Amino acid sequence: MQAIAPIFYGACTFERVREQFGEERRYLIVCDSNTRNFCLPLFRGGATELPPVFETEAGEDFKSLATCEKLWTFALQQGFDRDSVWINLGGGMVSDLGGFAAACYKRGVAFVNVPTTLLACVDATVGAKTGVNLLSEKNMIGSFRAPEAIFMDTRYLESLPREEWLSGMAEVLKHGLIADAAYWEDCLAAKLSTLEMVRRSIDIKSAVVAADPLENGPRKILNFGHTVGHALEAAFVRAGTHVTHGACVAAGMWMESLAAEAFAGLSAAEGEAIRAGLSALFPALPVEQLSVAEVRSLMAGDKKNRGGEIRMSLPDRIGHCLFDIAVPAGALEEWLPIYTDTCQK
Ligand SMILES: NC(=O)c1ccc[n+]([C@@H]2O[C@H](COP(=O)([O-])OP(=O)(O)OC[C@H]3O[C@@H](n4cnc5c(N)ncnc54)[C@H](O)[C@@H]3O)[C@@H](O)[C@H]2O)c1
Repeated sequence: MQAIAPIFYGACTFERVREQFGEERRYLIVCDSNTRNFCLPLFRGGATELPPVFETEAGEDFKSLATCEKLWTFALQQGFDRDSVWINLGGGMVSDLGGFAAACYKRGVAFVNVPTTLLACVDATVGAKTGVNLLSEKNMIGSFRAPEAIFMDTRYLESLPREEWLSGMAEVLKHGLIADAAYWEDCLAAKLSTLEMVRRSIDIKSAVVAADPLENGPRKILNFGHTVGHALEAAFVRAGTHVTHGACVAAGMWMESLAAEAFAGLSAAEGEAIRAGLSALFPALPVEQLSVAEVRSLMAGDKKNRGGEIRMSLPDRIGHCLFDIAVPAGALEEWLPIYTDTCQK
């Protein structure tokens, strides 16, 4: 399976995509309400006419089979055939949804991603995972399917709200923590341009994915912060509290750094440095609103667990990460109060 798509850096408008894939192909643009407003005008470029645009409402609730069905119906009614190219213009929600819908439509049509969030640039569009949520469980229905290309144009990020920017920064910092200590330091010191961060993060993620496309082993290191992070995210969704994916991953890395000290040999000094770096950037999440038992049970349902044991990906030093480390679920009861006491001061 091809897991890494070609990445084209630089200005990307519809003309650029059509130049790449041919005048004769039919194109369909998938976007959400925000990317239609903020990104489609730039994507139009000098084109007098755009191809048909499918717009979904924005947000995780719409990353669903119901939206896929609307998209498939739209594509069928517009007469799209198997030779068509679908263009996902948006963040990770649009690329996951549009990629999955394209992978299933007529048993698979080509799609490309034009990421418009930092999170999508450095994470969601790289690595061939597509999918939708089911019954408020994240990414339960999906497939491994790589786009034909990713067009990386950081001008699209200029309209991104601060909290969505930070959401992507959590993944950027994670890349440094699991694979490149100097990168972690440079990001904390805000030494890099957006484009430099995107390139370095993509290089790290691509190398990890290329070594293990289907996540049987080393790719799991990308999940640092995600066992706790996903559980927090799901619990906040159930509680009706809006939080971003990255904010939960940042809180997850904060707490999992304590696990890394206890179970992966991370030094106390580096554990402290990780937590200080994260706290400097990310406001504390209101975890006291959540039931510890619920977060614990959500962690127990994590896809990475084996034989009823919680397995985490944890750094043994900054810039290097281990995976499949068994961690007792009860440890969460210690970390949550430490997080609340330290971060909410
Ligand atoms: N496939 C993968 O490997 C992978 C990896 C990580 C995350 N994901 C998925 O990605 C999603 C999260 O991605 P995300 O953070 O990009 O979320 P998102 O796509 O929902 O975007 C966040 C918000 O920003 C808005 N937005 C997007 N681009 C904008 C722009 N340029 N200007 C203004 N507003 C803009 C969106 O409409 C939305 O309201 C989740 O569904 C997650 O499961 C997938």
